[in-house]
Amino acid sequence: MNINWVRAQFPVFQTNSKMVFMDNAGGSQTVGYAINALTEYLTHYDVQLGASYATSLQASNKLQQATKAIKTFINAKYTEEVIVGPSSTALVRILSLCLSQNWQAGDEVIITDVDHEANRAAWLNLQQQGLIVKTWQVNPETFELETDDLLALMTTKTKLVCFTHVSNIFGSINPVAEWTQLIHQNGAMVCVDGVAYAPHRLIDVQAWGVDFYFFSTYKTFGPHQAVLYGKYDLLNHMPGINHDFIQTSPYKFQPGNVNYELCYAMGAVVQYLCDLGTDNANAQINRNNLNSAYQQIAEHEAQLLDQLLAYMIEIPEIKVIGLPQSNTKYRVATLSFVHQSISSKTIVEQVDQHNIGIRFGDFYAVKLIDHLGLMEKQGVVRVSLAHYNSQKEVQLLINALSQVLS
Ligand SMILES: Cc1ncc(COP(=O)(O)O)c(C=O)c1O
Repeated sequence: MNINWVRAQFPVFQTNSKMVFMDNAGGSQTVGYAINALTEYLTHYDVQLGASYATSLQASNKLQQATKAIKTFINAKYTEEVIVGPSSTALVRILSLCLSQNWQAGDEVIITDVDHEANRAAWLNLQQQGLIVKTWQVNPETFELETDDLLALMTTKTKLVCFTHVSNIFGSINPVAEWTQLIHQNGAMVCVDGVAYAPHRLIDVQAWGVDFYFFSTYKTFGPHQAVLYGKYDLLNHMPGINHDFIQTSPYKFQPGNVNYELCYAMGAVVQYLCDLGTDNANAQINRNNLNSAYQQIAEHEAQLLDQLLAYMIEIPEIKVIGLPQSNTKYRVATLSFVHQSISSKTIVEQVDQHNIGIRFGDFYAVKLIDHLGLMEKQGVVRVSLAHYNSQKEVQLLINALSQVLS
């Protein structure tokens, strides 16, 4: 991967060149392509869609391009399957309100204690209407969700299983296709949180057979927005949340106007990734080019993670919370750890002095941090790398940590 080209695409690395940014799982930097698209849209096409005058038609066309790009990005079959909204949390809430209208008291939903609250709270709320919500618990020794534990929870009343593709604490990649197949065999649907996966590996909703899948564009090099995928047939048979006379997808799940300019900007993120994949400007937006980009991303991030882990595992007081190896199949470059005697807060505050942005806490995976008994450490220290981070930056972090931990 051409790291110099990559970094040059993110204006922040020119305007704030001293900052070392490693809080990417909190929110990534926005690529210049998206910033330019945002300006372009607001400068030229800032009109309401659906009218017959020329600028409105042009604006609709721009939006269609962006929606198609997002469809390709996640490998959906139809653009009707692409729902956009202000955040993943909001989209899951909308989904829960719509899906549950077809359910009855006594029906069951399974959530995990590894997930960010975005894929828990909305489902837990359904208990108020008589739904039963069960928790699939992590094995605190292996940091894994075990398939047998899931099967033990499933009954003929299970309607939906909600789980994360990548834990925003462990960085581990869950076997989405395998679990989805098993869950379908047991008669339920899946809702997968892809927020911590999308910046690191290429989404493929058709290959995995998932029913619902979501990610946040502000953690995938774009602006503050989110995308929810739903299978066409399921969306068609679900009640919506918009005005009664709006009955088609995605509109019935998008109350009010969506944010056109942010949607357009996300289309530009997909263009950036395709250009990265081909080493060419204005590359075609297709799966091959996206695959090539994500292969480069995965390899580059694995090198960074190797570098960091080589340092970490030599320090006996440090415990990595997750798999202490880089392996492109099983984990992404989000690394959490705790120290035997120094609190996570103290470590991060001291690293702050070096102008390196890392973070401590529960990262809204509150149940997980609680289950692992890490609340008293003030959560974990999380270093979350992205493809624009460099080996030089990882070395700066290692130097800073060496001072803090000495
Ligand atoms: C794994 C994961 N899922 C969901 C979310 C929620 O995303 P949003 O802010 O778009 O609601 C986050 C945000 O931190 C996250 O890290």
